[in-house]
Amino acid sequence: MGLTIEPMTACIGALVSGIDLATAGPEDQVVLHDAWLKHKVLFFRDQDLTPAEHVRFAALWGELEVHPFAPGDSEHPEFVVIESTADAPYAAQMWHSDVTWRVEPSLGSILRARNVPPAGGDTCFSNAVAAYESLSPAWKERIDGLVAVHDFVKVFGERVDADKKAETRAKYPITEHPVVRTHPETGEKCIYTNGAFVSHVLGVSAEESKEILAHLERAISSPNVTCRFRWEPNSIAMWDNRCTQHFATSDFWPEYRRVERVTICGDRPA
Ligand code: SIN
Repeated sequence: MGLTIEPMTACIGALVSGIDLATAGPEDQVVLHDAWLKHKVLFFRDQDLTPAEHVRFAALWGELEVHPFAPGDSEHPEFVVIESTADAPYAAQMWHSDVTWRVEPSLGSILRARNVPPAGGDTCFSNAVAAYESLSPAWKERIDGLVAVHDFVKVFGERVDADKKAETRAKYPITEHPVVRTHPETGEKCIYTNGAFVSHVLGVSAEESKEILAHLERAISSPNVTCRFRWEPNSIAMWDNRCTQHFATSDFWPEYRRVERVTICGDRPA
C-alpha cells in the first residue's frame, strides 16, 4: 500500500498511513518532510517502535537533543519518558513549544504513546502561523519587533537540586526570543510566546506584558487553529516546534499514561 496523507483539519494536522517508521529511510524522510511543513503535525498509528527505532527515525531529521531535566537511559540519552500516575499526575497542560528556554530551541519532537488511559489524555496542537494570521493589523503592528524572555525555571526549576542551581543557570541562561518568529524553511510568521516558559515581554510594563501574552495565548488556543489527537497505544505525533504549540490534556486521573519523546535540535529563532 502507498503512502496516504489525510488532513485532520484544513488548518493543522494530517494522519499518515502506509509507512513503517521502523524501516523508514532518507527517501521517506524527504516525502514526510514536505507533508510536515504543510500540515505542521503528522500523526501515525500502529508504530510499535523499540526505543532504538524511535531514536533512529528521529535522527533522519537531524541531531538529537538530550533533555537536561529529563534525560533518557545510558543507551538512549535522547529518549524522554513522560509518565502520569495517580500519585504524580504530571501532564504538560499548558500551551507550549518544546524547550524554548534554550538559545537554540528544538526543530521538532516525535512522541509515541506507550500506555493510553481508557478515556482522556488527548494532546491538542495549535498552528502558530494561523494564530498569528488571526490577529488584527493593530495587534500585528503592536507586537512587531518585540522580544520575550524564556526561562526553564518556570517548569523545571523544582527538578534542580539546591546545590546545582547556580551551575544549571550558567548552562541554561535566561534567553530572549522574538515574539513573532519567522519559520526558517517556509518564511511564515508565527506567534512564538508560550505560557509555559515565557516570563515576560521586554521593554513594556508588567501590565502590558501580561496583556500581550494573554492575547497571544487566546489566539493560539482558538479552536479555529487547533486539532485534538486521540491517542492509541503505538500512535505517534510528530510536530514542528518552530510553528506549533501543544497542550496535553489532564483529564484522565487517576489512570496511567506514558508517552515517550525524542526531540530534534533546532536553530536560533529570528
Ligand atoms: C510534551 O509536551 O512533549 C508532552 C505532550 C503529551 O504528553 O501529550
